[in-house]
Amino acid sequence: MAPQRCITLLATVVIVLILFCISFYTYHEDIIVDDYKSGFSRTYALYMLKTITGFMCQESDVSDNRLAPVSTKTFDVDSFGAKGDGKKDDTKAFKKAWKEACSSKTAAVFHVGQSKKYLVAPIMFKGPCKASLTMQISGTILASKQESKYKKDEKHWLRVDKVENLVIQGGGVIDGNGDFWWRKSCKVNKTLPCKDAPTALTLYKCTSLRLNKLTIKNAQKMHVSFDHCVSVQVSKIQVTAPEDSPNTDGIHVTHTQNITISDSVIGTGDDCISIVSGSKNVKAAGITCGPGHGISIGSLGSKNSEAHVSNVTVDGAKFSGTTNGVRIKTWQGGSGNASNIMFRNIHMENVKNPIIIDQNYCDQDKPCKEQDNAVEIINVTYQNITGTSADKDAVTFYCSKSHPCQGIVLKDINLTQVDGDEAKAICNNVMLTYNGTVIPRCPKKIDQDQLAFGSYGSC
Ligand SMILES: *[C@@H]1O[C@H](CO)[C@@H](O)[C@H](O)[C@H]1NC(C)=O
Ligand SMILES: *[C@@H]1O[C@H](CO)[C@@H](O)[C@H](O)[C@H]1NC(C)=O
Ligand SMILES: *[C@@H]1O[C@H](CO)[C@@H](O)[C@H](O)[C@H]1NC(C)=O
Ligand SMILES: *[C@@H]1O[C@H](CO)[C@@H](O)[C@H](O)[C@H]1NC(C)=O
Ligand SMILES: *[C@@H]1O[C@H](CO)[C@@H](O)[C@H](O)[C@H]1NC(C)=O
Ligand SMILES: *[C@@H]1O[C@H](CO)[C@@H](O)[C@H](O)[C@H]1NC(C)=O
Ligand SMILES: *[C@@H]1O[C@H](CO)[C@@H](O)[C@H](O)[C@H]1NC(C)=O
Ligand SMILES: *[C@@H]1O[C@H](CO)[C@@H](O)[C@H](O)[C@H]1NC(C)=O
Repeated sequence: MAPQRCITLLATVVIVLILFCISFYTYHEDIIVDDYKSGFSRTYALYMLKTITGFMCQESDVSDNRLAPVSTKTFDVDSFGAKGDGKKDDTKAFKKAWKEACSSKTAAVFHVGQSKKYLVAPIMFKGPCKASLTMQISGTILASKQESKYKKDEKHWLRVDKVENLVIQGGGVIDGNGDFWWRKSCKVNKTLPCKDAPTALTLYKCTSLRLNKLTIKNAQKMHVSFDHCVSVQVSKIQVTAPEDSPNTDGIHVTHTQNITISDSVIGTGDDCISIVSGSKNVKAAGITCGPGHGISIGSLGSKNSEAHVSNVTVDGAKFSGTTNGVRIKTWQGGSGNASNIMFRNIHMENVKNPIIIDQNYCDQDKPCKEQDNAVEIINVTYQNITGTSADKDAVTFYCSKSHPCQGIVLKDINLTQVDGDEAKAICNNVMLTYNGTVIPRCPKKIDQDQLAFGSYGSC
């Protein structure tokens, strides 16, 4: 909106509001006698004025998803010397712009402009900040390939630390430039030692966080990690990396509470979403996953650790050509539990392990030794899951002998093999209940050490 028109509108609104207030006072003179109420109506008029002017005069750029507060200050990386030509290292400009934005007393916008490419080395966006903050990323942030820049902290590229009331949005791209790291991975080249690689975007100890409309691609390792965050809303995120890129999880949730991930499309070389210890009240809805390793809870309990994950719901997801659909994986020897988990309204296409619980997970070169301890798996419901399995075993429960999976419910399941053949279920040490039509079911003849009980009567 042109400034002049804005001012004209503003003037009109002010006049209307003054007239409104006068008429309000006049009309209610006999009713409103105490100061509290007239104070209230003044405050209300002022609030209305602020809201309306805020609504009319905001920058269109920021108006994307929410009403920008009335006095928003924008800190554009370009005004701090960023070039955005994809060649010059713009880290210093980013640091300066962040420092100013974060110490702004009024709501701030950290702005990364459209149709430019900013080359950036590892950087910490450190909070707490003075006011609420929006990171408006409309252009591309490209990871520096200069190895020496990662010496200080090999685990993070873009890291946001302890920021409250943060919105990250803008439809831009975060590009980890990962191929150079993938080639160095011991998973890709077995002759090389195993070393860490950075997570592209880490949100650490952030509260009241929204991540909306962003593309994150070709991360060095994981794409986005929520670590010790509380109250997070993630929506319309796109993650892309090649199917053979190592450890490139799409969205990783660790020690994070109250997080909703919705309407996102993830295709990568590892888990589309991984949810690990310390996480609770996690909801994922409207997820499209593939290629990748599916949505995983775990791995949990590695190196005899204690793990707790509870109240996870995946409601509405589509998996295509993934190695797993919905998976829970725990190492032997761990402790704690994963409980109250719901997977529902899910469609599978050509998925190797559509439904899988693996309590003998072992992601290392030498075989894992057998141990009695296990992270317990309690109350997992699978409901309305349909489609095709690439493998003959569409349902796999490899549960622990000493700690069988408890409270597993299969309800309205119909999975067949891709070629149309009947699929099978493997059921070791699982206590389960069927409800509605369930195809496939566990084999009727159950070995001594494979307990699987359930209400076979229902349907
Ligand atoms: C694996 O790494 C070794 C040692 O750096 C290197 O000589 C070899 O070419 C690499 N192999 C591939 C397939 O990249
Ligand atoms: C998380 O959500 C639950 C349930 O809605 C609520 O009771 C709890 O207070 C929230 N936790 C935090 C830390 O906000
Ligand atoms: C489980 O998580 C959902 C959000 O995903 C929340 O609304 C609900 O209150 C939580 N339930 C409990 C028992 O905390
Ligand atoms: C699961 O872990 C929670 C949290 O530590 C604990 O309170 C609960 O007793 C455990 N539940 C079971 C059934 O082991
Ligand atoms: C079952 O899930 C599919 C998505 O895979 C959804 O379209 C359908 O509405 C669900 N059916 C019911 C009865 O909820
Ligand atoms: C599992 O579900 C049952 C029945 O709904 C409930 O009584 C029990 O508390 C749940 N267990 C856990 C660990 O949440
Ligand atoms: C299960 O799905 C197959 C393949 O889509 C379909 O032919 C079959 O009718 C379904 N069975 C039931 C009981 O819905
Ligand atoms: C099956 O599901 C229906 C509908 O949700 C529910 O009312 C019923 O109790 C369930 N039956 C069993 C055996 O769990």
